[in-house]
Amino acid sequence: MTVACVQTSPTLGAVDANLDAVETAVLGADADLIVLPELFASGYFFESTEQAAALAEEVPGGPTVARLEAWAAATGATIVAGLPERDGDALYNSAVIANSNGWVGTYRKTHLYYEETLHFRPGEGGFRVWTVTDRNRRSYRLGVMVCFDWFFPESARTLALGGADVIAHPSNLVLPHCPAAMPIRALENGVFTATANRVGTETNGRESLTFVGQSRICSPRAEVLATAPVEGEAVIRAEIDPCEARTTALNPYNDRVTDRRPDLYHR
Ligand code: ACM
Repeated sequence: MTVACVQTSPTLGAVDANLDAVETAVLGADADLIVLPELFASGYFFESTEQAAALAEEVPGGPTVARLEAWAAATGATIVAGLPERDGDALYNSAVIANSNGWVGTYRKTHLYYEETLHFRPGEGGFRVWTVTDRNRRSYRLGVMVCFDWFFPESARTLALGGADVIAHPSNLVLPHCPAAMPIRALENGVFTATANRVGTETNGRESLTFVGQSRICSPRAEVLATAPVEGEAVIRAEIDPCEARTTALNPYNDRVTDRRPDLYHR
């Protein structure tokens, strides 16, 4: 199957324009799984919680999910993308999954970064794995985490122990370390990872953040199968076989899962 990550350069608050700006890339990605960045249509560095709330959408039902559903129907792809979710009074930094049947599920970011903690509640649902299909109706297991979740190895480990073959990782990375870390997250957990990041600089009126690009797709052998530049919009693609993520043995003597010693992993 083919995995694609779309690296974007959104404008804070310009949801319709940001959706329009990525449409050609998504419709032309020719992939079974397409990953878009965190908060890809709203922008990231909100000036206030009021601004975040005004941009947040109910899931499903809001305009961003509607557009994702239309793109999934047009392409046959499964699409994973980030957006600000409103649920009653609460806001979440969420990633949604859509396929040709419509909305499939939502993951609410567990580990909030920096001023996200002012605007969003952390997700309490934990790390979930969905069974989805490629365009040839072959099933694979899809886990989702969002950006800063990478910093906590337990996120990817929990998804791997839950059976994920591929981890979709919508991101708005500002720290420089994640691109180097992802091949190791993929190796230690025996999964494919697809990190879709953004580029550009955003200001909340008081401070600016610059995003580091370098979206990348990594293999369970720690290979970087595709990578995007530090600057500029891009679509990266890689052919993967999810079955490669189902062998936990490293050699006849070692196994990523059964060699673990959770009895010793506490103080
Ligand atoms: C981040 O979690 N957006 C850095």
